[in-house]
Amino acid sequence: MEDEEFYYPSQDIIDHANVKEYDDLYKYSVEHREEFWAEQAENLNWYKKWDNVLDKSNPPFFKWFEGAKTNIILNAIDRHLLTPTRNKLAIIWEGEPGDLRTFSYHALNREVCQFANILKSMGVKKGDVVTIYMPQIPEQIFAMLACAKIGAAHSVVYGGFSSEALADRINDANSKVVITADGGYRRGKVIELKGIVNKAMELSPTMEICITVKRTGLDVYMENDRDYWYHDLKALPNASHKCETEQMDSNDMLFLLYTSGSTGKPKALVHTHGGYSVYTSTTHKMVFDLKPEDRFWCAADPGWITGHSYIVYGPLINGSTIFMYEGAPNHPYPDRWWKMIDKYGINILYTSPTAIRGLMRFGESWPARHDISSLRMLGSVGEPINPEAWKWYHRVIGNDKCPIMDTWWQTETGGFMISPLPVTPLKPGSATKPFFGNEMAVVDDNGNEVNVGEEGLLVIKSPWPGLAAGVYRDPERFIETYWKKYQKQGWYLTGDSAKKDEDGYYWIIGRTDDVIKVSGYRLGTAEIESAMISHPAIVESAAIAIPHALKGNAIHVFAVLYKDYHASHELEMELINHVVLHLGPIARPDEVKFIDSLPKTRSGKIMRRLLKARLLGLPEGDLSTLEE
Ligand code: WTA
Repeated sequence: MEDEEFYYPSQDIIDHANVKEYDDLYKYSVEHREEFWAEQAENLNWYKKWDNVLDKSNPPFFKWFEGAKTNIILNAIDRHLLTPTRNKLAIIWEGEPGDLRTFSYHALNREVCQFANILKSMGVKKGDVVTIYMPQIPEQIFAMLACAKIGAAHSVVYGGFSSEALADRINDANSKVVITADGGYRRGKVIELKGIVNKAMELSPTMEICITVKRTGLDVYMENDRDYWYHDLKALPNASHKCETEQMDSNDMLFLLYTSGSTGKPKALVHTHGGYSVYTSTTHKMVFDLKPEDRFWCAADPGWITGHSYIVYGPLINGSTIFMYEGAPNHPYPDRWWKMIDKYGINILYTSPTAIRGLMRFGESWPARHDISSLRMLGSVGEPINPEAWKWYHRVIGNDKCPIMDTWWQTETGGFMISPLPVTPLKPGSATKPFFGNEMAVVDDNGNEVNVGEEGLLVIKSPWPGLAAGVYRDPERFIETYWKKYQKQGWYLTGDSAKKDEDGYYWIIGRTDDVIKVSGYRLGTAEIESAMISHPAIVESAAIAIPHALKGNAIHVFAVLYKDYHASHELEMELINHVVLHLGPIARPDEVKFIDSLPKTRSGKIMRRLLKARLLGLPEGDLSTLEE
């Protein structure tokens, strides 16, 4: 559409691809969806196989592999211990200061068993929710896997969130145990985490125990009978390196992950052991063309769904070697990533358009200083990638030979929904076509497909094994948010707008709801606005997303002041810091604009669309619902 030239994969890529052809297999996968997924599920181990591939008797609460007994750890660790994979590196980790740690699958198992035993000794049981608030260190992965192993659900909260945001998530999940570290390294500085957790614990009546991993040696406050150092617990006799994996039902909860929506506080999506195992491992293996000898680097943070599915679970189920890096891409110099790709011989790099644009800014001389020819495949996720960044990534990082997998998906979908395969001819900026089994469409408000090249709402018409099981303890909200609009048809509303071109390729445009993607991070306007109005100067406020060359979008906030307050640069700065304090640095607004009143519809809804049009000088569109 925007760009008509195709980029074709090399013969070498085609010859070695795990999946050599798309059209016929896609046709089979949608006509025989349950058979297709059952065949994929056969690649995994199960304590007991399913009675029913898909129970769709109670939509939208679909149950995959119903009747099966499994645990994601059975496939991510246990089965590898019985094969030569046992001796393979599971994790290669580099800290920002340059320290290196590696773990074979054998060593990973010992770490996870030990952590699991520690959690058990702290009273954690099957079904409990454990909150994890950590820097990107191996213990973050061990903690997640340890929870899964004993049947507890993890709720990982991204380390860029504030103590208040952390406390909200702890309280909503009724979590009693939090795992953290004293701090982490970022851009040469020590980021204090335990201090933030301490503040959050004061706001959390349910919180009883905090386990702290020593990473930086920062001096932190520890309270008797509440705070434990991880290394002290490891030294206790009950922290053995052996632990049985808990047998779970396929549809038992594996984790909660909070994500922002249109309204109110972030909600926790629930993912389960069975379907999620099958979906993440299948998508990872097919899309990134995983080979046993590959070293795979997903440069996301485990605190987001991308990290859950493609740093941790998908790759470990596939027995891959994963690379993980703690810190900033440009520390100490802008060649840090390229240096590590060279040093460790990374074969696949999966990152976000914001990261690519950020590194592109420093120029080609930085990657040119290193041999990055080990790279075979590249990936992009989190926001639309502009063709200019795509082409730079392809030419400079991929040496014109690495296919770029632009994967479109969401926290709710568990794994890739629209994505190329290595053999797919690519168009820069398009995520190309639906993954196997998925039927999608671009429709209008009434559910009619829009014409080729026209913008519409992106919907998913069929169930898939990675779909979240629901919103934690709030089934109504799940229905309301995703299924209400096309209830008659039974379709899932993605919240994104898209176009489909004459070749059937999808082009994602962006969110249609009040979700803002800043540097690929997902935030809700409602959260930003409620942080704003917690400041005494603010009557009401509206947050909107404005296109930004580096971050994709930037947050701009309109604010109405109480009578006694006056607009000033100082107040603007104070409000920006106020939002950071309440939500965390990722929610920092670029600008706060003071305004006399907010435009609203007659039913009282803020017209953010109009604010945005005015700020950007765009046509104001239909104003018939605007209040006088
Ligand atoms: C956006 C991240 C364009 C989209 C995995 C979606 C994308 C939201 C892409 C989900 C892509 C994700 N191209 N847009 N390849 N991937 N998005 O839940 O707006 O953090 O709805 O999941 O990110 O964000 P979430």
